[in-house]
Amino acid sequence: MKVLGIESSCDECSAAVVEDGQRVLSNLVLSQVDLHKPYYGVVPEIASRQHVEWIRGVVEDALAEAGVPIAGIDAVAVTRRPGLIGSLLVGLSFAKGFAWARRLPLVGVDHILAHLYAPHLERDIQYPYLGLLVSGGHTIIARVERWDSIEVLGTTIDDACGEAFDKVAKHYGMGFPGGVAIDRLSKSGDPEAFRFPKPNLHKGDDARYDVSYSGLKTAVIHQLDQFWNGKAERSLANIAASFQRTAIEILVDRVLLAARDTGLRRIVAGGGVAANSRLRERLAAEPGLEAIFPSLALCTDNAAMVAGLGWQLLRDGKTAGLDLNAEARVSMFKRRYP
Ligand code: KG4
Ligand code: ZN
Repeated sequence: MKVLGIESSCDECSAAVVEDGQRVLSNLVLSQVDLHKPYYGVVPEIASRQHVEWIRGVVEDALAEAGVPIAGIDAVAVTRRPGLIGSLLVGLSFAKGFAWARRLPLVGVDHILAHLYAPHLERDIQYPYLGLLVSGGHTIIARVERWDSIEVLGTTIDDACGEAFDKVAKHYGMGFPGGVAIDRLSKSGDPEAFRFPKPNLHKGDDARYDVSYSGLKTAVIHQLDQFWNGKAERSLANIAASFQRTAIEILVDRVLLAARDTGLRRIVAGGGVAANSRLRERLAAEPGLEAIFPSLALCTDNAAMVAGLGWQLLRDGKTAGLDLNAEARVSMFKRRYP
């Protein structure tokens, strides 16, 4: 069964054709990053207008690259939440139109669950496992029981992990998004050069696996300001490496605690920050744990993960009607998700 996947929840306009939930025939991602760079963040109005311009072309190109004619598509899967509402509606409306015109089943996909599904496109992974979703918008540690059911164990109480990388990078003048640039600069710095603060919010059981990044971000920005003012002698690379070490330790501490408490020894990561070299090395080196990371192209937003998860949902009979709507926000503090 060939599923057309469509993803437009943020600033990536993507379409993919995936066969039987695993075989990626095409996965095209058009990035709007250059349009949003001057603003150091995604401007929702610019994003949705650009999706309108690109959506038809990206779907056509994904079909062409897969070598599949329109008549060869069996179903349409589309991201319906969470995300920027205007952006989501472009992909959703296009998917509805496509499905209606071709009389195909339509399935609405959750972006968070799609990120967690991404590594399943590359290998068979047994449930349950500990899922780690770290991106510019989300930081979630969850017990993943099935493709459509997770128990959220911990989340961020303020900034997302990727957001902290982006805000620190902005202070460096590295542009947006800045995670990759910080990762690269860290390679030439000493990760032990600076002691940055780690949050201490784990006294009560409720916050046991939660993380926080706003304190770290502020401390790093202050340190950078001192450097710019000529008071600090350490190099920019040392600050970046020390920030990265601390940001990843904050995450890894909670992941290891959750692994110990739940007895889950398999950790599956997803989201843009899963591309981080230190996170990958750190978890891979942890004895007694199996750490699974998707390839870099499947870490960031893409439609193949949407088509893959869509296929599973179709098999479960979870098709949607043309009244399917988009949702901008979801609650991460509710334990069961969705
Ligand atoms: O999953 P994604 O493409 O979009 C969201 O759903 O947010 O993730 C983008 C985020 C950005 O914050 C970006 O800076 C971060 O992932 N990122 C990284 C790295 N590559 C991307 N953060 C740290 N290290 C990296 N190598
Ligand atoms: Zn994402």
